[in-house]
Amino acid sequence: MPTKIVLGAQWGDEGKAKIVDYLTLDADIVVRYQGGANAGHTVIVGDTEFVFHMIPSGIMHEDKVCVVGNGVVVDPEEMLAEIEDLEQKGFDVAGRFFVSQIAHLVMPYHKALEKAAEESQGSVKIGTTGRGIGPAYRDKVERSYGVRMMDLLDPQRLRDKLEASIRAKNELLTKVYDQEPLESGPIVDAYIGYGEQLAPYVADVSVLLNQAIDQGKTVLCEGAQGTLLDIDHGTYPYVTSSNTTAGGACTGSGIGPTRVDEVIGVTKAYTTRVGNGPFPTELLGEAGERLRSLGHEFGATTGRARRCGWFDAAILRAASRINGLTSIALTRLDVLDELESLRLGIGYRYGDEILEEFPADPQVLEKCEPIYEEVAGWQTPTTDVRHIDDLPPQARIYVERISELSRAPVSLISVGPERESTIDVD
Ligand code: IMP
Ligand code: MG
Repeated sequence: MPTKIVLGAQWGDEGKAKIVDYLTLDADIVVRYQGGANAGHTVIVGDTEFVFHMIPSGIMHEDKVCVVGNGVVVDPEEMLAEIEDLEQKGFDVAGRFFVSQIAHLVMPYHKALEKAAEESQGSVKIGTTGRGIGPAYRDKVERSYGVRMMDLLDPQRLRDKLEASIRAKNELLTKVYDQEPLESGPIVDAYIGYGEQLAPYVADVSVLLNQAIDQGKTVLCEGAQGTLLDIDHGTYPYVTSSNTTAGGACTGSGIGPTRVDEVIGVTKAYTTRVGNGPFPTELLGEAGERLRSLGHEFGATTGRARRCGWFDAAILRAASRINGLTSIALTRLDVLDELESLRLGIGYRYGDEILEEFPADPQVLEKCEPIYEEVAGWQTPTTDVRHIDDLPPQARIYVERISELSRAPVSLISVGPERESTIDVD
């Protein structure tokens, strides 16, 4: 298997974890390339539950190597908690887990500043996950106070950097946000400790991955969040702070674009969004409630109820274009099994205009009315279907229409949470 990127084609929560788990069976290495502890998935093995925010869940496969690339902002406390949890439950990660030496860190002041900013009057209420992601990327880009994994390994360098940084952040916390200052001593000591514990895992990830590709190994790059949460291409400012799109897999891991063979966009058979921002096909009231309860749409990281709505093909066309999708993995088709009829958003009406492409201007998007195509429901359980030909005819029509409207072939269809509940179309 060649190098593949698997990423979210909508606003996150598309069911990437399940698709990544399925594709991991044929992979040697799984890499995360952006985001941080804002992403989350829960994996259940027998009666034991594992929650991952930092480490690729591919780590559950004992013969796989898992890597956190430089594009990720690392929360070392969270990363260590996950390693410890895995080891307590009998999974050995030594020698098969690596984190980039040039990845930036999330610090306690990032979380404190994010919270203060979101609560303060007059700031945009993005509805972040509160994991300090934006402030950590801000420091990376701003360049005065960014702290990287390699700094963790050098206690003196770390102490100097953190003391300067905490001094500056305390100015902000106390003078701008009227909050208590943070005490630097305990933070410095804690992070020196994290450095000692994480040292064995720190690596030059670009070298590691490219050598692996040279040796014919298969690499699976796992995106977090989704295309419309991309800092550039998403519904700005209601986005996350990283490039969730395919280019981010290259910059966030140190693999060149010419080495990537496939880009798979994961999309639900309907649409959800957590947090604020425009959502043209959103269903409010009872209809939205019904979809939420059929799909159990509550966030893995924050527990928040997800906003739900119809499938929106304009989003998928944008995802196909921006990511150069080679195929689509369609998830949660079974969630729609009961519905009498369904709607597919095929484009937008904006005043007198018909828009086929997803508009970049949020003010335009806010005023867009979706144009729907009505499709009959199949009202037949699909969870046990394993072959595309065995889908109820109406479900096949729905899938084919999604593929046509999205301008990409469907390679996988997920019809249930279990690994086996997957239709491999190819
Ligand atoms: P942040 O990533 O915590 O800065 O949050 C920015 C926006 O991205 C908010 O609307 C979040 O709800 C959304 N977001 C972040 N991570 C995820 C995710 O894993 N799934 C869905 N939405 C997310
Ligand atoms: Mg998630």
